[in-house]
Amino acid sequence: MTDSQSNQLELFKLIKEKTAIQANNKNGAEFSNPAFAGNKIRPIHRWVPWIAGFSSDFVKDALHEYLHNKGVVLDPFSGVGTTLVDAVLDGHNAVGFEINPYAALACHAKAHAHRIDINILQKNMLKLKEFYKDKASSNYIPISEPPKGFKTRAEFYSPAVLGKVLIIQDFINSIESPDIQELFRLAFASTMVRYSNYSYEPSLGRRVSAGKDNIEDFPVGETILNKLIDMAEDIAWFKKNLPASDATVRIINASFFEYESHLTPESVDVIITSPPYLNNYHYNRNTRPQLYWLGYAENPRDLKPLENSNFGKYWQTVRGQECLELGFLLPDSDLEDTLKLLRTLHAEKGVYGGNGWANYAAAYFRDCHTFAQGINYALKPGSTALVVIGNSILQGVSIPTDVYFGKIAESIGLELVDIHIPRATRVGNSIIQSDVRVTKAKNSHQLYEAVVELRKR
Ligand SMILES: C[S@@+](CC[C@H](N)C(=O)[O-])C[C@H]1O[C@@H](n2cnc3c(N)ncnc32)[C@H](O)[C@@H]1O
Repeated sequence: MTDSQSNQLELFKLIKEKTAIQANNKNGAEFSNPAFAGNKIRPIHRWVPWIAGFSSDFVKDALHEYLHNKGVVLDPFSGVGTTLVDAVLDGHNAVGFEINPYAALACHAKAHAHRIDINILQKNMLKLKEFYKDKASSNYIPISEPPKGFKTRAEFYSPAVLGKVLIIQDFINSIESPDIQELFRLAFASTMVRYSNYSYEPSLGRRVSAGKDNIEDFPVGETILNKLIDMAEDIAWFKKNLPASDATVRIINASFFEYESHLTPESVDVIITSPPYLNNYHYNRNTRPQLYWLGYAENPRDLKPLENSNFGKYWQTVRGQECLELGFLLPDSDLEDTLKLLRTLHAEKGVYGGNGWANYAAAYFRDCHTFAQGINYALKPGSTALVVIGNSILQGVSIPTDVYFGKIAESIGLELVDIHIPRATRVGNSIIQSDVRVTKAKNSHQLYEAVVELRKR
């Protein structure tokens, strides 16, 4: 960084300190997710909160343990890019699939942060500051409009907040450099729920339903500027810490189930990933604000393909079917019996009873099967996949997804090396010390997370 760049950053830090007091006092709402907690303070990783499965520490440990030379790292369910960012920082080539366009945007911006010209970024931040100050204090009528198709039960933004958000949109639309515009879009999208009348609990719902007041007014511009200041600091850090290498990152905004169209067989050295869990967490519904405001969706039809190709489907999409079969055999496992038992429970509740949930579980394990085939296709012989996955309890029935996924992987020819249950304490020297959510199952009816370690034969 040149002297003038670091002076500029110092200046921005001062601005940030001033605005932080205002912005922080407003009950900011974010995803709450212990597994992501470590990422909240890490450069680059802190940009976008997400339900993640693991944090940067886990990925770093895993890369050091399983990849000793420069190689290709794949994350089939990239989320906001934890694996991809750390792979690049370690000098590896990274490939990520992510079906959600907002998350894919985050992956792209973060993993390519080194390309950003900090001078141009700072110039645009100063311009935003002036533009916002000027327009927010005048009778300016924004050109931008809220996305027409984005319907919510309650007003998403209060009028005063909406006015400010639209000023920001006008500014973002005027940015010439696509890379810089991408950062500004992300700075808006990653903070936009904080000043809305909705919050993440961790699913998106009305603030009033969670006992919180609506947000009548908010320092929107300051909040976005603060986010950009963090980003600028992190970009400088990223440039400094990126090894001199010709490593590439490829982000594929598509379902991993299309792996054959995008990947060469046996081309990957390690897979580090966490697919959606069997908990019906609705990534698409929870990111509707971002998907509409960023222009990825104009009406509910646009979200259907995302829903249909989402790993594990959603309970809502399969609960009404008579009996969704697994569609494959799994010898030496009680998965079929568990599903049968589930089907018999609470028949009086109709689609809300056991059969609906058994359909959802069957859809989920079908996708686990396809996923395992994808792993087998992509990995080089002798290479490892680490899959972080949470167990589940459906209608009181314990579903050890880690064990079933391990069996499924074996059934398609992968070696199941181990299933690690992360420990709460940091002792020992293996991936189990890492920063996966550390809730440990004391009995079969407790939620836990596991790392399923697989090897390609
Ligand atoms: C547990 S999150 C992964 C988070 C990631 N480990 C991180 O640190 O950000 C699972 C992700 O899988 C994505 N996803 C769901 N179905 C998918 C599919 N068929 N192909 C690719 N990504 C998918 C979801 O959008 C979600 O971001």
